[in-house]
Amino acid sequence: MARTAKLELDGKTIELPVIEGTEGELAVDVQTLRAKTGYITYDDSYSNTGSCQSRITFIDGEKGILRYRGIPIEEMAETSSFVEAAYLLIFGKLPNEAELHRFSGLLTRYQMIHEDMKFHFEGFPHTGHPMAVLSSMINAAGCFIPELTGECDEECFEQQAARLLSQVRTLAAFSYRKTMGLPAIYPKKAYKYTENFLHMMFSDPDEDYEVNPVAVRALDLIFLLHADHEQNCSTATVRMVASSKANLFACASAGVCALWGPLHGGANQAVIEMLEEIRREGDDGTKFLDQVKHKEGGKRLMGFGHRVYKNYDPRAVIIKRYSDDVLRALGVKDPLLDIAKRLEDAALHDSYFLERKLYPNVDFYSGIIMRAIGIPLDMFTVIFAIGRMPGWIANFREVRENPEARIYRPRQVYQGPTKSAYVPIEKR
Ligand code: ACO
Repeated sequence: MARTAKLELDGKTIELPVIEGTEGELAVDVQTLRAKTGYITYDDSYSNTGSCQSRITFIDGEKGILRYRGIPIEEMAETSSFVEAAYLLIFGKLPNEAELHRFSGLLTRYQMIHEDMKFHFEGFPHTGHPMAVLSSMINAAGCFIPELTGECDEECFEQQAARLLSQVRTLAAFSYRKTMGLPAIYPKKAYKYTENFLHMMFSDPDEDYEVNPVAVRALDLIFLLHADHEQNCSTATVRMVASSKANLFACASAGVCALWGPLHGGANQAVIEMLEEIRREGDDGTKFLDQVKHKEGGKRLMGFGHRVYKNYDPRAVIIKRYSDDVLRALGVKDPLLDIAKRLEDAALHDSYFLERKLYPNVDFYSGIIMRAIGIPLDMFTVIFAIGRMPGWIANFREVRENPEARIYRPRQVYQGPTKSAYVPIEKR
């Protein structure tokens, strides 16, 4: 028998259906609540609201579990690649060899942006943050695809998804080169996804960047670990925009804006800025942690804490383990890694962090690896955006393919002035 929840309101008892997820997650379906009672539910910042039913990514925040389409992130990190993970997330299954070959071929086919796009880059000031440029340019890239706003069958969707996934790294690299006043470097057919991105970032017209396989693998892993994370702020934004039937590129552009904030994707940049501040001040981390605990100036230990994980973020475990190896293999010694480890150790033995279940998240160590590869600080969040693109595309698709999907439209509890008369300006 289907489970229901009973709710007593104003002396009336109503029954609401209970939905069970495939991993046993239970939700009370409140869709009929207002019609039955006149009440709405209230959940500021959606911390206990399931906004959709999804088949893409599973997280158990208490146990520190993350799975893409059922596959544990640890197995993906160990054996897969970013492009394969992207396929899995977007199309719902691991590709066979032919499918992966075909998808990689599409990524190569679409890697070049329209030549006229180069003029758009001219309009940005050197000081423009690459996330602002990326968001604008993704939307601009959509203008070059006339069929983007029409009906889209499976083949057309595959092409649009490949085009977006491929071009986001070209746009990202071009925007970096632009802010540095450097000439744009075109992608090469011979290179695979991540290799090509590093080539476009760091080659020069007169000299190719020597692509280091350690750097390629490290960045590919960072992309893969960021590829999806269920209903986070930017993915929920993408779904929200998709629900209005806006096109894929417009939705991804909105996702980039949501990701930019320091409480979300911007945290990887904020972690390095925090570690640098600690080093500049000659602090071993003790003074900084004291300020955090006393909430001085609203300071937070960036890269710690998560809305869903109340345990270790499994991505942080993988990245931390990997960071030592990468730095060693690249021959980089970074004092910030030592500070980060000291901070983590101190925080994990401190009641302030333990009581609030604050553990390192994916951003705590990812910046150290990106620094070692040579990625500039203000590109860190852009790297996150490239990585998150498959998740956004998969979530876009889920919204658009749901025959029951309606436009996302939350309600509110109005707390403003009650009805009051308009006062003419001379009487105010
Ligand atoms: N440092 C110090 N204290 C913290 C931190 C932190 N990083 N995070 C949360 N807290 C404290 C809060 O001050 C609050 O304390 P209180 O109970 O005394 O008021 C308590 O923990 C609960 O915090 P909330 O803000 O309610 O937690 P929420 O779930 O809203 O926030 C968030 C999650 C935004 C990630 C938060 O932990 C944070 O700001 N972390 C630092 C930024 C960061 O690393 N963001 C990346 C997140 S992962 C990602 O987007 C990939």
